[in-house]
Order: sequence, then structure tokens, then C-alpha cells
Amino acid sequence: MSNAVLAAVSACVFDAYGTLFDVNAAADKLRHRIGPQADRLAEQWRTRQLQYSWLRSISGKHADFWQLTGDALDVSLATLGIKDAALRADLMDLYYKLSPYADAQGLLARLRQAGKRTAILSNGSKAMLKAAVDASGFAQELDAVLSIDDVGVFKPHGSVYRLAETALGLPAKEMCFVSSNAWDAHASADFGFRSVWVNRARAPREKLPGELAAEIRSLGELPALLGL
Ligand code: LAC
Repeated sequence: MSNAVLAAVSACVFDAYGTLFDVNAAADKLRHRIGPQADRLAEQWRTRQLQYSWLRSISGKHADFWQLTGDALDVSLATLGIKDAALRADLMDLYYKLSPYADAQGLLARLRQAGKRTAILSNGSKAMLKAAVDASGFAQELDAVLSIDDVGVFKPHGSVYRLAETALGLPAKEMCFVSSNAWDAHASADFGFRSVWVNRARAPREKLPGELAAEIRSLGELPALLGL
């Protein structure tokens, strides 16, 4: 197949939040309680969560991703003038076992059947990743679920990407890294992975180090890149 640019890879490593799990799902499910600001809340929550991860990595003030997720939600709710403790608790409960995207369903099993190893490499804490992976049924389709908890610094620090090499016993160049976060796709490519950006929002290319191996609009396009 002519576009099977990743046919030679032995393993596929996935980002979790925004790639396999839908970061807007919690706010979407409680839209009726949040009101017209639901989309703004989801966007601010996610943006702030990532900003906090980068700021804490740069300043060396690490805290786990679950705490950052709660901190980011608190400030986003306050920014939008929403005071509702029960809503806050319910949003966090939904985020703990966040729903997968439709295009992630069945994908990991298909890769496994084709002889590829599969893993998650995420900023998420071990506990929140386990909850989401168990709730989605992905647990038995993954060779490894890797959390930055083991290095105490967030993506795009190189020590995070190295976790996948160590856990899977493969050099980055023999693995593909799949992320819908452009910055994560670029940083993993710069580290040495064959990286795929899942550009669901059809956004323009970012200007960041690291050359992407491919850009797709949905995870459904991944098997063709692998020659499946
Ligand atoms: C993750 C963040 C980037 O799952 O969403 O690592």
C-alpha cells in the first residue's frame, strides 16, 4: 500500500487525553447543568490543565495530573462565574473514567491482531489512567499503560518519551507515536518516534521542532498507515 509509511513499526504508542479519551466528554454529558457556557468551560479546562502541566514542569513544582485537572477546573469555573460544588464533583467523576472517542473503539485490538504492540504514554496519573482504561475496556488490548508519575515531569520532557523505549524494549524509531495534541506529536517526533498527528479539528500545522511521519483526521485512518 503506497501510503503505508508506518508498515515497519513494531509498536504503536498512544497519547491518552484528547487522543483515545474525549477531553470534552465530561462537560458534554453535563451540558444541561452547565448551560450555554459548556463548550467554553471544556475548552478553558483543557487549555488550563495543559498550561499548568508545562508551567509546573518548567518551575520544577510537580503535582500529579489529577490535581492539575481539578485545579484547572476550579479556575475555569470561577472564570465563567459558575459556583456549583455538586457540578464540580460530577465533572471530576466523569473525567476520572473519561469516555473514549468513537474512532478509538476496536482500534487497539485490531493493531494487536496484526502483531503490533500497543501502549499508552500519558501525563495522566496512574490511578486516573487505570480508571479510564478499565472503564473503556481497553485494558486487555494494551501491552503497557505508562504514566509520567514514574518520572515526575510532564510532556514534552524527553524523559517521558524515554519511558516507552524502556517499557517496550524498542528504540523510538521502531515505534509510532499517535497524538491529537500537535505539540505532543512534534515533541515525540523530535525525540525519535515515527509520529502521527490526529488532527481532528483540521487545524493548521504548528511550527515546532520534530518532523511528523503523517497527519490524519481520525484514528480510523491509522491502520492504512500501518499497511493493515
Ligand atoms: C496526555 C495529555 C497530553 O494524555 O493529554 O498525556
